[in-house]
Amino acid sequence: MINANKNILFTGTVLAFCVILFVHVFLFPLYAVNPSHSSLRVFMDFEKSLCSSNYIKSKKTWSKQQCPKYGVVTTMQGGRLGNQMWEYASVWAVARRTGLEPYIPRCIRIKLDQVFDSLSVPTFEEIAHCPVDMSTFVKSLDAWNYTYQSIVLPRYSVQPDIVLTWVQDIIQEFSFKKKLVNKSQNILRLVAKNNSQSIFVGVHVRRTDYISYLWRKYSMLPANTSFYYGAMKYFQDKYTNVIFIIVSDDPAWCIKKFSRKKNVYITSKKFINSPSLDLAILSSCNHSIIDYGTFGVWGAILAGGETIFYNVSHHSTVRLGQILPNWHTLA
Ligand SMILES: *[C@@H]1O[C@H](CO)[C@@H](O)[C@H](O)[C@H]1NC(C)=O
Ligand SMILES: *[C@@H]1O[C@H](CO)[C@@H](O)[C@H](O)[C@H]1NC(C)=O
Ligand SMILES: *[C@@H]1O[C@H](CO)[C@@H](O)[C@H](O)[C@H]1NC(C)=O
Ligand SMILES: *[C@@H]1O[C@H](CO)[C@@H](O)[C@H](O)[C@H]1NC(C)=O
Ligand SMILES: *[C@@H]1O[C@H](CO)[C@@H](O)[C@H](O)[C@H]1NC(C)=O
Ligand SMILES: *[C@@H]1O[C@H](CO)[C@@H](O)[C@H](O)[C@H]1NC(C)=O
Repeated sequence: MINANKNILFTGTVLAFCVILFVHVFLFPLYAVNPSHSSLRVFMDFEKSLCSSNYIKSKKTWSKQQCPKYGVVTTMQGGRLGNQMWEYASVWAVARRTGLEPYIPRCIRIKLDQVFDSLSVPTFEEIAHCPVDMSTFVKSLDAWNYTYQSIVLPRYSVQPDIVLTWVQDIIQEFSFKKKLVNKSQNILRLVAKNNSQSIFVGVHVRRTDYISYLWRKYSMLPANTSFYYGAMKYFQDKYTNVIFIIVSDDPAWCIKKFSRKKNVYITSKKFINSPSLDLAILSSCNHSIIDYGTFGVWGAILAGGETIFYNVSHHSTVRLGQILPNWHTLA
């Protein structure tokens, strides 16, 4: 009798445990990927649902700021440095256009703070304690109707039209840390052997995983040497003392294809640079040659010179080429 009771108790406990496990494993993840669920009560919870990387070191929150009176604009996190710069810039620009308060998830801000010195968009830390009303959120500027409505942009969003309305201001916003500026200037000076007349052309060669992405999304083969050589010839004909600074995720391919030219310098040839240093180097150059991908695009925007890009129909780079007057393809 006592044993039977024990068994019932045991079975009951196991059953209860299974139910709890089921709820946690199968239901909670659904909530976690769907920020529209009502379990998000304050902005601190909401911020967590926007992040794809784990970032929170302290749970401390400050109640220093008043809660937003109208809607806010923010973004989900996705991709690496170049993507997260677009996500940040899009929030910054949509806030300017709408007058909504911009907030950036800490996971993105922590990443960008390692590279840039004076980012102005605050994180949710400022309003962590404030109630969030998910029913007021829309996912794009086009769907936005009135000032009490909030906007959460999807991950990987690239919004050249609105961001480049204020191109000089976004260049200011992405000011590199002094250490990175100093390092990249030192590298350029060394490569140029102190010749102050040198014209630096940054070349971004994106390969590795992007090659299969190009094929899947655009049914296109990657740029071959004809593109890079043609673009390099364009600048060589235009200026004397041109030096090409090649930045790539595949330095070995670049060494094979470019190192026989004498005015070419390939970064990460001996030691792999951090992405932030490579971006600072591209941005320090006078002009740019880019194939595709957000990293090279930002390098060229921040360099602010003449840019030759590879023509991938329907790619956002083509739209940038229509907006920015000194961007073009080779006919
Ligand atoms: C916003 O405007 C669109 C069309 O302009 C409309 O279909 C939609 O219902 C509006 N949404 C809200 C929440 O008012
Ligand atoms: C800049 O680089 C030079 C040469 O490496 C170094 O001597 C100097 O201390 C650096 N300055 C700063 C502010 O990092
Ligand atoms: C470049 O100039 C600096 C001083 O401006 C000097 O210390 C350095 O040796 C020079 N480097 C070369 C390669 O000429
Ligand atoms: C490079 O690709 C272009 C098409 O994009 C093609 O016309 C050309 O023949 C190719 N060149 C080489 C060297 O493969
Ligand atoms: C070219 O870039 C170098 C390195 O950033 C800079 O020192 C130089 O002033 C630039 N030249 C021109 C003509 O803008
Ligand atoms: C890109 O290529 C397409 C099709 O080949 C062409 O219609 C378009 O004009 C080109 N765009 C640029 C900016 O060169």
